[in-house]
Amino acid sequence: MTDRPKNPAGNKSRKAVTEPAMDLTAVLASKVVGQPNVISVVVPYVEMFQAGLAPENRPVGVFLLLGPTGTGKTRTVEALAEALHGSVKNLLKIDCGEFQLEHEVARLIGAPPGYLGHRETQPILSQQRLVSVTTEQCGLSLILFDEIEKAAPALTRLLLGVLDRGVLRLGDNTVVNFEKSLIFLTSNLGSREMMREINPDFGFQPAGGAEVRQNLTGKLQSIAMVAVRKKFSPEFINRIDHVITYRPLDAESFAAIADHEVTNLQNHVNTRLGSRCFGIDVPFETRQWLIERGTSPEYGARELKRTIHKHLTQPLATLVAKNQVEPGSRIRVEIAPDRAGLVLRSMEHGEETAASHPTILLVDDNRNLLQFLERLMAESGWELVAAESASEARRLVAQRKPDAALLDYMLPDGNGVELAQQLRQTFPNLQVTLMTGSLLAPEEEAICEEYDFPVLRKPFLATEVMSQIRSRLASLSSGAK
Ligand SMILES: Nc1ncnc2c1ncn2[C@@H]1O[C@H](COP(=O)(O)OP(=O)(O)OP(=O)(O)O)[C@@H](O)[C@H]1O
Ligand SMILES: [Mg+2]
Repeated sequence: MTDRPKNPAGNKSRKAVTEPAMDLTAVLASKVVGQPNVISVVVPYVEMFQAGLAPENRPVGVFLLLGPTGTGKTRTVEALAEALHGSVKNLLKIDCGEFQLEHEVARLIGAPPGYLGHRETQPILSQQRLVSVTTEQCGLSLILFDEIEKAAPALTRLLLGVLDRGVLRLGDNTVVNFEKSLIFLTSNLGSREMMREINPDFGFQPAGGAEVRQNLTGKLQSIAMVAVRKKFSPEFINRIDHVITYRPLDAESFAAIADHEVTNLQNHVNTRLGSRCFGIDVPFETRQWLIERGTSPEYGARELKRTIHKHLTQPLATLVAKNQVEPGSRIRVEIAPDRAGLVLRSMEHGEETAASHPTILLVDDNRNLLQFLERLMAESGWELVAAESASEARRLVAQRKPDAALLDYMLPDGNGVELAQQLRQTFPNLQVTLMTGSLLAPEEEAICEEYDFPVLRKPFLATEVMSQIRSRLASLSSGAK
């Protein structure tokens, strides 16, 4: 890979060529969940262009995005188009699957003069096309070669010149300049081998905390690079600025994507129906049900949009078409009694909105930890109920009916294992996780095993707790318990 500056935006005093993107990192992070690597790599290149400091005679940046299916590779480039140009349409997307044969690649550059149909065929990669995807607020063309491994070798040969000198010679001998372009290549190269790494026994959810995940990311990166080196020549790989491997998404990310889709649906209803709009109430259990059906280690979040469309958007559209929704009312989306589908019903006047996120009881006399977890859970929309003793915990569970509880072993008026047992006997659906700084006695370990209470050893990363609780709640809502 070529050596490019780590922060190419460097000189801030120079006047921006275009409007600086309003905190691009934050906008992208809200659209592309759980892939901070790609955002931190790509944003400096955009800033470099905006600062007028992009190098000449080559594209502004060239990125190869790799990783398992449904982890957001294509979505990243679409999100960048939305962020910079206001619409996903401002993206020149080449589906490489359409260019599997050598002669099909000619459509990209147009036929040379003298060939039959020369005048009728417009090259896909013309200067005009590149300019047509820019906007007044941003003159950067985004070009996506999606699933590059499917294209005929002629396409990589053609790309070599583009990546190297920033120019492409068309069939009619005119030259297209790519100096104001960001080029993205996405690929599934190595993804079968990656799946084997992620999921050795199919159907088994990979367990483990942040360290395991970090190792996994490194392993996937090496698998991807081996596959890339097999497929592409060293000179092609050398012209790519960054090869970025996407991580498999975790339960937290799936939940954030689902929340996003539900919010988008509500916004769509509001804008399309105007004064006739209505509210959509999607309780936490229903969201988990959708996630359960729309996501998998094999396909990531690929099916989530379709699942939401089938079980939520379409039935909602039918209700609207039949005039069965009162403007200003609220529709509650619940899981059908047989759990095979969802049921939409009008909420009664005065009926309380269901919590769209879980309520968690946290029992620990360490105030710092309580405050820290509270902040973290609030960011995910979770509600935290905190207690510093076993007696306070018993009172709060009866009062607030939390979905899950996280109990410290050492409590001023008892221990976490006893408390967990008592709570589970009264509230069989409560998901209890224990935290401990030391080893449990063998008989206590036996109790945890019998009741299926996971035990987290301190210290642990906050994200581990969230994932742990999330997967517990997911198994509950899928009816597995
Ligand atoms: N990280 C993510 N953030 C937000 N949405 C995501 C993310 N990953 C997947 N999705 C959702 O899943 C859909 C499919 O994702 P996307 O097309 O980006 O997958 P991909 O990584 O390109 O997979 P493939 O290798 O199969 O092309 C997206 O349209 C989006 O709804
Ligand atoms: Mg894709």
